[in-house]
Amino acid sequence: MSGDTSPVLHVRQLQASYAGNRALDLHSLDLTRGEIVGVVGANGAGKSTLVNALLGWSRGAPRLSGEVCLDGQRIDGWATHQRVRAGLLLVPEGKLVFAQMNVEENLSRSLAPPAEPGRHVYSRDEVYDLFPRLKERRQHLGSQLSGGERQMLGIGRALMMGPKALLLDEPSIGLAPKLVDQVLRTLRTLAHAGLAILLVEQNVRAAMEVVDRLVLIERGRVVLEGPAQAVGNDPRIAEAYLGATAA
Ligand SMILES: Nc1ncnc2c1ncn2[C@@H]1O[C@H](COP(=O)(O)OP(=O)(O)O)[C@@H](O)[C@H]1O
Ligand SMILES: [Mg+2]
Repeated sequence: MSGDTSPVLHVRQLQASYAGNRALDLHSLDLTRGEIVGVVGANGAGKSTLVNALLGWSRGAPRLSGEVCLDGQRIDGWATHQRVRAGLLLVPEGKLVFAQMNVEENLSRSLAPPAEPGRHVYSRDEVYDLFPRLKERRQHLGSQLSGGERQMLGIGRALMMGPKALLLDEPSIGLAPKLVDQVLRTLRTLAHAGLAILLVEQNVRAAMEVVDRLVLIERGRVVLEGPAQAVGNDPRIAEAYLGATAA
């Protein structure tokens, strides 16, 4: 089913409401193999609600509706762990790193999915090749890692679960600028190898360096989307960015 032209992730009419308040109203979003789509928008625009809704999960237990297909298969009725097993992987803001386990143990906690042609399940060594820093720090506890190292570990764990689509919620938060570049460049490498990536970022300037397309969200709705070069200079993008840096 993973033809190169059909979208890996296909989303239609995705809506989320917290206690009757609509936080997300997304008409359509498609993500194809090898593509990085950036989702930008000010604080509270609905970016986290979007990626969480794709996984059918959220702290606030929002009411969800809409169609989500992964690799041609409808998954919106599925439990979160089933979506993960099918290859929809989210590295959330908190990064889901086990604080009391070292890096190596954190990585061995990843549950390998069933073997499937065309689906790459990264090994621990491949993750270490991608992030040599993690290998250096492999005996360190999750709680001893820097923000950047936790982010790498979160991505590494997701890769070991064989993602078809990788969703990242603000990976640059709390990272030194040099690490932001390193993490984002790694995403480019992963996309080049065929992964489909949805990158939520408030750091629009950094995101612009690696994304193919940009989607701007305001109050839960897409207000602008297009190739990064074409929409990157739209004043509304700058506004979202300034809003984010002022916050
Ligand atoms: N757990 C929750 N309960 C109630 N409202 C929430 C919850 N999480 C988010 N919201 C609301 O949904 C909107 C979008 O939030 P969010 O998706 O976190 O925005 P972003 O990630 O873009 O900063 C905001 O108005 C926020 O207040
Ligand atoms: Mg958020």
